[in-house]
Amino acid sequence: MTIEAIDFGRLYRDHLATTQRTRKDASAWDRRAADMASKALRSSYADEFIGRMDLTGAHSLLDVGCGPGTIGLAVAGQLQRVVGLDYSCAMLEAMRAKAAEMRLSNVETLHRAWEECWSDVPQCDIVVASRSTTVDDISTALERLHAKARLRVYLTHLVGGHFTDPAIQAVIGRQVPSVPDYIYLLNILHRMGVHPRLDYIAHENRLADAVDFDDFARRVAWSMGELDAYEICRLHAWYERATPNERMGSPMRWAFISWEK
Ligand SMILES: C[S@@+](CC[C@H](N)C(=O)[O-])C[C@H]1O[C@@H](n2cnc3c(N)ncnc32)[C@H](O)[C@@H]1O
Repeated sequence: MTIEAIDFGRLYRDHLATTQRTRKDASAWDRRAADMASKALRSSYADEFIGRMDLTGAHSLLDVGCGPGTIGLAVAGQLQRVVGLDYSCAMLEAMRAKAAEMRLSNVETLHRAWEECWSDVPQCDIVVASRSTTVDDISTALERLHAKARLRVYLTHLVGGHFTDPAIQAVIGRQVPSVPDYIYLLNILHRMGVHPRLDYIAHENRLADAVDFDDFARRVAWSMGELDAYEICRLHAWYERATPNERMGSPMRWAFISWEK
C-alpha cells in the first residue's frame, strides 16, 4: 500500500463519525459570543496567531468562523477591507460592535456557514480560519479557503483531538473519543498540491479562569455535553481537593498551518 491510496478526506469523515462530540449549532455559539468578545481579542492566543502572519502586499482579509473578530479586527488597521464570516448572528454582532468601538469603517460581516453556498463570498488577499475548522467535510473546507485566497492562508486546527483534557474526562468517568486532529489536514493539503508550513500555538485552556465550581462545570459541559448528577458529584469531589495547577489542566494546543498561493 502507498500513501497515494489513502483518501484522507474520507478518513477524516469516518473518524468524525465515530465521535460522540456534541455538535454545536449556531445558537450554541450565539450564547458564547459575549464571553468570547470580552476575552478572545486580547488573548495570548490572538497575539501568537497574528505574530505568525505576513501581511506584505495584502489589502483585504477574509476571516472564516470569525467569532467576535479575534483575528480580523486585530489586523484591520493595516488593511483596506476585512470580511468576517460566521453562522452565529451574535458573533457577527459582537464583531460589528467591537469594530465600531475601535472606529474601524472597513469591517463587514457575512452571515454564512461553511456548508452553505460560497459563490458570493469575496476573494481576499489573506484568508484565515482560526479555531473554526471542525467541520464535517474538511476537504471541501480546505479547497474553499484555498480558492478564496489570493496570497496566503492561515488556519489553526486542534492538536490531539480533545477539547476536554483527558485527565478531566477520567475524573468524570466518561471517555470522549477524539475528534480528527490537524494531521488529516496536512495530508489533504499535500494531495491538493499545497505544501504548508506547520507551527504550534499553546495556551491556557478554558477551564483555567473558571471563577468557581459552577463555572468550571459549565465549561466542562460545553465541550463534553451535559453532565449527569453522578458525573457532577465526581467532578465536584475532585475539584475540592485539586491544586490550582490540576484544575487548570494541560494547555490547549493548536497546529498553525499556513501556505502561499
Ligand atoms: C472557537 S470559535 C473561534 C472564533 C475565532 N475565530 C477565534 O479564533 O477566536 C469557532 C467559531 O466558528 C463558528 N462556526 C462553527 N461552525 C461553523 C459553521 N459550520 N459555519 C460557520 N461558522 C461556524 C462559530 O460560530 C464560532 O464563532
